[in-house]
Amino acid sequence: MTGIGTTEWVMARCDDLTRHSARPDALERVYLSPEHSAANTAVRAWMQDAGLDTETDAAGNIWGRRAADGTPQRPATPGEPALVLGSHLDTVPDAGRYDGMLGVVLAIAVAHRLRDTVLPFALEVVGFSDEEGTRFGKALLGSCAASGQWDPAWWDQADAAGVTLREAFLRFGLAPDRVGDAARNPADLVGYLEAHIEQGPVLEAEGLPLGYVTTIAGARRFVLTVTGEARHAGGTPFARRRDALVAAAHLVTRIEELARATDSLATVGDLRVEPGAVNVIPGRAELTLDLRGRTDAGRDALWEQIAAAGREIAAARGVTFEHTETHRAPSTTCAPQLIDAVASGIAEATATTSEPLGLWSPAGHDGMAMGAVTDVGMLFLRCRDGISHHPDEHVDAADVGVALEAYTAAVLALAKEIG
Ligand code: GLV
Ligand code: MN
Ligand code: MN
Repeated sequence: MTGIGTTEWVMARCDDLTRHSARPDALERVYLSPEHSAANTAVRAWMQDAGLDTETDAAGNIWGRRAADGTPQRPATPGEPALVLGSHLDTVPDAGRYDGMLGVVLAIAVAHRLRDTVLPFALEVVGFSDEEGTRFGKALLGSCAASGQWDPAWWDQADAAGVTLREAFLRFGLAPDRVGDAARNPADLVGYLEAHIEQGPVLEAEGLPLGYVTTIAGARRFVLTVTGEARHAGGTPFARRRDALVAAAHLVTRIEELARATDSLATVGDLRVEPGAVNVIPGRAELTLDLRGRTDAGRDALWEQIAAAGREIAAARGVTFEHTETHRAPSTTCAPQLIDAVASGIAEATATTSEPLGLWSPAGHDGMAMGAVTDVGMLFLRCRDGISHHPDEHVDAADVGVALEAYTAAVLALAKEIG
């Protein structure tokens, strides 16, 4: 069977979405790009096929909705709050095909399966427009807009080509001064329930297809800038050099050392050097820093150590060290009611008598933003070798089939609890 709502349909739609890419040889789909628009168009049609009424919001998120009685419905009936299912449609560069997209497609399949079921709440599906934050440095832009947390300071953050977020909005056909319209009212929401690949090795090691999330790690991102002096690679003795790259290299290894001594994580994922010529001593190095912690306090303490190391290395090497924070999101605890619903969905789908496994998520998710306006819950799927943010990302169709059952059962369990 390949019809909408089946496992085969879900796998095929994840394959389909790979065609909306900025690169012919790899998957890359960033916020407010032509590919973002094309993916929204594809997803809109699938949502409509699943019996949802659709809308693109003021931040480029794509939404579908049905009323409690199953009728495709927009605008919403006042006083009929919705359970929101979904994930994100943007990707990192050279991405896998499941991080985000699988959660959106699964949500559509669940909505289709429940199209004739009367629920005690409306059901919505969302494809968030920016979770990764790889274009503008700030992550969760789509869900920050939907949760009413848009900060006007972000408008001037620019992509690698110098295009600001404000300009990108205008080019995409969105009005910056209307972004507040995307904000959801907490009174209109029952909760946000997302399915996502684990992006780590725990479920595979435990031999389990599914788990529920307990907490999502808090994150911060920075741009670190080391400025020295660009000079001739032959004519400048070592004693006269203020090499920005050598200082940055010391900082990168120090960051890893510091993080390894904690239970937080730190990653330098990008390093740009200027002027970037073989025979010129680097005058400037710009590094990205991604921090995650089980607790926000642990993550922040690590940042203080890293900032101190940056200042020390700069002083020792005659360069300057500056930093700009581009993203901050709090650690988010999943709501007991949604955890219970997901756990009971897993138990039902896997016909297991043992307790479903709860995991914390070091990876970031849209729930970190949606947690500001509603309860959050997550269902994790095993992925091969824990690989993600890589084209080898893989999930077994059999696990997707079990997830489909568990996700549907979780919505019904919540309906029973609430109804
Ligand atoms: C998104 O996948 C993140 O965790 O950065
Ligand atoms: Mn993701
Ligand atoms: Mn990701």
